[in-house]
Order: sequence, then C-alpha cells, then structure tokens
Amino acid sequence: MGSFIIEGRNSLEGIVDIGGSKNAALPVLASTVINGREYLLENVPDIEDVRDMLEILEIMGCTAQYDNGVALIDTRGLNTSQVPERLVKRIRSSIILMGAILQRTGNVEISYPGGCEIGLRPIDLHLKGLRKLGVEIHEKNGLLSCSVAEPTGCEIQLDYPSVGATENIMLFAVGIPGKSVIYNPAKEPEIVDLQNFLNKCGYCVNGAGTGSIVIEGKKLKNTDSVEYKIISDRIEAGTYLSAASSIKSKIYIRNIEKSHFKSIISIYEDAGCEIRETHGIIVIENKGRIRAIEKVTTQPYPGFPTDMQAQFMASMATADGITIIEETVFDSRYKHVPELQKMGANITTIGRVAVIEGVDRLYSAEVEAKDLRGGAALVIAALGAEGTTKINNVYHINRGYEKFLYKLQNLGVIITETNE
Ligand code: EPZ
Repeated sequence: MGSFIIEGRNSLEGIVDIGGSKNAALPVLASTVINGREYLLENVPDIEDVRDMLEILEIMGCTAQYDNGVALIDTRGLNTSQVPERLVKRIRSSIILMGAILQRTGNVEISYPGGCEIGLRPIDLHLKGLRKLGVEIHEKNGLLSCSVAEPTGCEIQLDYPSVGATENIMLFAVGIPGKSVIYNPAKEPEIVDLQNFLNKCGYCVNGAGTGSIVIEGKKLKNTDSVEYKIISDRIEAGTYLSAASSIKSKIYIRNIEKSHFKSIISIYEDAGCEIRETHGIIVIENKGRIRAIEKVTTQPYPGFPTDMQAQFMASMATADGITIIEETVFDSRYKHVPELQKMGANITTIGRVAVIEGVDRLYSAEVEAKDLRGGAALVIAALGAEGTTKINNVYHINRGYEKFLYKLQNLGVIITETNE
C-alpha cells in the first residue's frame, strides 16, 4: 500500500512545475474511441488513473503508448463494446466511455460504477441525457446494456451541472445528426478542454464554459491523426498553494493558467498570503500564520472547488481564528477529518458543515489517506506539524498527483516513501 514519512516544521522554497490535468486527460482519453484513428496527446499526467484508462483502451483492442507526458493512441483496433468491469470499479471516470463507445459502435456494456469514498455518486443525469438522445438502456445486476437505433439531436436541461454527465452527453451527441443543446452544463475548464479537443478532431461544439453547450452533430469523413495538448492541473496547482500557506514559504508555480484557479488564489490572498504573477509564473510567499476565512462553500465551477476542500481545511487547521466550510457537492467528503484530529486539529463536523478552530500547531501522528484529496490534505498538515508524520495508503494520492514525492523534495520537504 505504501506510506509517506514526512519531517515537519520545515519551510517550502523553490519551483514546482504543474503537470497535465487528470480531470481533463481522462475524458479526452475516453473520447479517442469515438473515431478509429491515431492520436498524439501531450501534457498527459503520469498518474495511476491515466495508466488505468490506457489499460482499458488496450484491453478493448486499441494500442496505447505513454512516455514522459506524451500518449500515442491508435483506436482503429477497437474490437469490443464491453468495458472491463475490473477497471470500471477501479476508476470511476471510465463511465465517460459510455457515450464515446455508443457513438462508435451503437452499443455498450459497462458495469454501474457505484459509489466511492466521497459519496454515493449516482449517474442518473448521464442516463437521462443519453435516453433523451435516443439511447435504450437496460440495467441488470449492476450491468448497464445500452444500444441505439435512431439517435436524434435534442435539447437537454441538466438538473445539476454534473461534470461527468456533461462529458458523456457531449461524447455521444457530437456524432449524431442534428443539433443538440445542453442547458445548465458543467462549466469547468476541463469541459472547455474537451470541447477544444473534439473540435480539433473535426467536430462542431460551442459554448463550453457558458450556460449552454451547442453541438452540431456530424459523422466525420477525415480520420487523419490528431495532435493535442491537455491543459494543466488547476487542482494540483491549488494543492501547492495550500501547502505554501501552511508554513513559511516562497514558491514559484509554473506551467499553469492563472485564470483556471482564481477562486483558490483569492481565498489564500484573503488569508494573508502574498500571491503575484510574473512572466506567467505564480509566486506565493507566506511569512507567518495565516488568517482564518469566515466561510467557504464548495460549488461547481467557477465556485470554490470541492476538490480543494480537504487541502484548504488542512491549511485552516493552524490559521488564526475560526473557519466554516460547507461541502455542497459531495455527501460524504470529510473522511480526512478524524485523521487531522489525530494530529491535534480542532474540527467539528455537523452533516455537510465543518467548523475549524485554528490551533497554534499540529503534531505528528500515524494517519491514513482515505481518498485522493484527503490524502493530499494530510501531507499539507504534516508539513507544519511538530515531529515526523507517517501517512499510510498513499496509493490514493499517487492516483492523481504526478511525481508528488519528487516535486515536494524539490521544494525542500524531507519526505520519503516506504512500500510497507
Ligand atoms: C468530476 O467528478 C471530477 N472527476 C471530480 O474530481 C470532481 O470532484 C467532480 O467532477 C466535481 O467537480 C473527474 O473529472 C474525473 P459530478 P464527477 O458528476 O463527474 C451528483 C478528484 O478529486 N450527480 O459533477 O463524478 C454527484 O453525486 C475527483 O479529482 C448526480 O446526482 O462529478 C455529486 O454529488 C473527485 N447524478 C455531484 O452531482 C449524476 O448523474 C457532482 O458530480 C451525476 C452527478
């Protein structure tokens, strides 16, 4: 399972390069099956989730090579519409393959992804949208069997701006004749990146990032190879911002689009960190104890991201004052709280609300990573803690953070990884 061992009470200094976005790369990788052709993708993060998605493509008959941020994929060999269950269970976002494979083959079999550490995570909005576009969906023993005879473009109003549902509908609608419109779609930068990739492939999608996405569906004639560069990871950048705010620090964050994580930057400025941009590099300097933030509510983009909630909580654990967090996106995303409490954090949760009373300092302990972002929060807490902290189950962290150990060591953190 692996553990991190971290010496606390150091400072952070230096440069960190942000990798490609996990949540942009996964839907782009899934969408490569829509058309059998060759794809050269750059800035693809070197993380477990990407390896799992590539493995799924290979099991389904495609070829996929990966080296140092570049993925070379050929999907002409796709030879099945059944997504391997073992991997669907391991990587939830494989559900996005549904729309893509349906578009390619007219049918798909995929197991129901089920819930995960952070909540129930139903896919009712995915299914509702696909059904509106003409897909027939049968569910038996947790297996979804879908087929489509005469798909037609139409208008879809999403009850909630779900990222996954928006992506699944986009991947299916791009290839069906007629116009489709998604109202109240997710507006995340990753959705805009998916639109840009699909347009690079020759499709016609507009409006991503706004209140409606318009898709002029069509069958592609040209299947020449496609080259595309994935956006960088705003949540990875936000995680280093949180780390820098929790102890004395001066770090330079490179290879990230500032506008993608504005809501995170403004919160840490309010907390007292000095943040500026110079030649496209984000510089954050923290000279002492930060201030608590009265209230933060997680929301779909452009609101404060739920994927930053745990890291933000960890930095507020030693801030001066009381912070209230309301987690509105997922129903059980506080699994990191008991672990932070083991380190001396003063946190109370009532349903989806957490009250954090900042303490002078945290203390080392042996703690468990329970999920990806919760794991990153424990690393942030350990940076400022008195003593040596051991974080177990770090496979959760390696699923979504590229070269985490190496990048932290480069910033002066005394951190090692054990395989016990
Ligand atoms: C994406 O998950 C991200 N994952 C998540 O990041 C992120 O937390 C989430 O969007 C919200 O920003 C990827 O992009 C791979 P949703 P997704 O559909 O698509 C409910 C991380 O740490 N809902 O927007 O699963 C759902 O239960 C991960 O990198 C329905 O009720 O998120 C949740 O409460 C974790 N019915 C809320 O909407 C549906 O059909 C948001 O889900 C779909 C969603």
